Amino acid sequence: MKLHHNPASPFVRMVTVTALEAGLSDRIEQIFTGVFLPIEPHAAVIGDSPLGKIPTLVLDDGTALYDSRVICEYLADQAPEKGLLPESGTARWNCLTLQALAQGFADAAVNLRYETALRPGALQWQEWIDAQKARLGRSLDALENDRIGELSDVTLGSIAVAVCLGYMDFRYPDEDWRTSRPNLAQWYQTFADRPSMQQTIPPA
Ligand code: BEZ
Repeated sequence: MKLHHNPASPFVRMVTVTALEAGLSDRIEQIFTGVFLPIEPHAAVIGDSPLGKIPTLVLDDGTALYDSRVICEYLADQAPEKGLLPESGTARWNCLTLQALAQGFADAAVNLRYETALRPGALQWQEWIDAQKARLGRSLDALENDRIGELSDVTLGSIAVAVCLGYMDFRYPDEDWRTSRPNLAQWYQTFADRPSMQQTIPPA
């Protein structure tokens, strides 16, 4: 399998952590896209996905899978004994909802990064920036207050949440998300020590 890849992307990291947890990492060749702007099509990625977005996973038979949610579900499906996606019932819907929360969080965090780091200052839209920050804050509060119990197992949901918190520390190191969310902070401290997280830390 081939993975169009940039380790700075939280969506890519959700896939690489899942691959390690599933024991499938050795079967995936990582094709580094380099840094490319979201407004510039990347020829190699577009060759495999009309969206031109990373991650895109190309299976050995040439089938392309995207987006990160689909790829993570595929990897979990290849290693059912790991229980990364509960088979049915409440545990499954909680896991998928947790994953969706993390995906929305990553969307907001990356949107914020594009707006503040890439878009010329004079064109920045402050209300939109504020709305992304508010979405991040509400999501962190929901994880601390309502969903902390769902993080105890290693699943596609908890992996996605851990990757989002890692992205906060990577791109927004001055943002103190921990002080008012002590349980989430403690959970992350332990999860971040897992080899799958340690081996996928984005380079500075
Ligand atoms: C980043 O550098 O923060 C980034 C890179 C690729 C995709 C999303 C975010």
